[in-house]
Amino acid sequence: MTEIPQELTRFLASASRVVALTGAGASQESGLRTFRDAQTGLWAQYKPEDLASPEAFTRDPKLVWDWYAWRREAIKGARPNPGHYALVEIEKRIPNFTLITQNVDGLHRFAGSQNVLELHGNIQKVRCSECGTFTETWGDDSESVPVCERCGGLLRPDVVWFGEPLPRSELEAAVTASRACQVFFSIGTSGAVQPAAALAHAARNNGSVVVEINAEPTPLTPIVDFALHGKSGEILPGLVRAVWGG
Ligand code: OAD
Repeated sequence: MTEIPQELTRFLASASRVVALTGAGASQESGLRTFRDAQTGLWAQYKPEDLASPEAFTRDPKLVWDWYAWRREAIKGARPNPGHYALVEIEKRIPNFTLITQNVDGLHRFAGSQNVLELHGNIQKVRCSECGTFTETWGDDSESVPVCERCGGLLRPDVVWFGEPLPRSELEAAVTASRACQVFFSIGTSGAVQPAAALAHAARNNGSVVVEINAEPTPLTPIVDFALHGKSGEILPGLVRAVWGG
């Protein structure tokens, strides 16, 4: 079990402004593959970057739609893990807590987190690729990509694809919170994708204590104040116990 440094425990006990950035590693113990794990089964021959882009959708909308349908199916059976619930606890204890996630699986909200910024969207939401209208239901014709009832455009998942801008209000809120926090957690992310990866640096440049909780070292590790390497589903509950007991 990863030891929680006493200095970090003391700091968190008195902190009022905390930010946590999560990536796919935070959902790994819920049974969801991380983004850069080798894809399983039918999708093994594709790189996710070749599926999660506007160009891929233009080239072969059915392939991209089916990949997200497969991922939605995988998420259906997933439940929040102890790491998600520990972040709900932390949100209850810290007056000003912001949870920023790169994950599109919706598990933070499912666990009960309130103040969640979904930087890369949410796979459960579907919108028209032409007029942007959101829709809750769509045909399940396995032969073709469902179309928008309003304009006939192809439907797509409401997630950020490579080369697309992040939702402006979420990104601005994430940057503002990262610049103002006393403690910044980077949890279960390889720090491979911008602008999310820059948030830890923004926090550090403003004097925040930066804590990495990740299964393995990342490019961020050399600049963090505390590097806790292990499973977030174990470390986060341990941190809650160390700081707040229970
Ligand atoms: P990655 O797959 O790049 O990184 C996941 C990180 O989690 C890795 O460093 C793993 O070592 C770590 N990890 C795995 N299991 C863990 C566990 N149980 N506890 C703690 N850490 C664990 O996924 P992300 O960093 O989230 O963007 O990828 C960021 C973005 O890249 C994704 O949001 C996606 C992708 O392009 C878009 O789709 C726009």
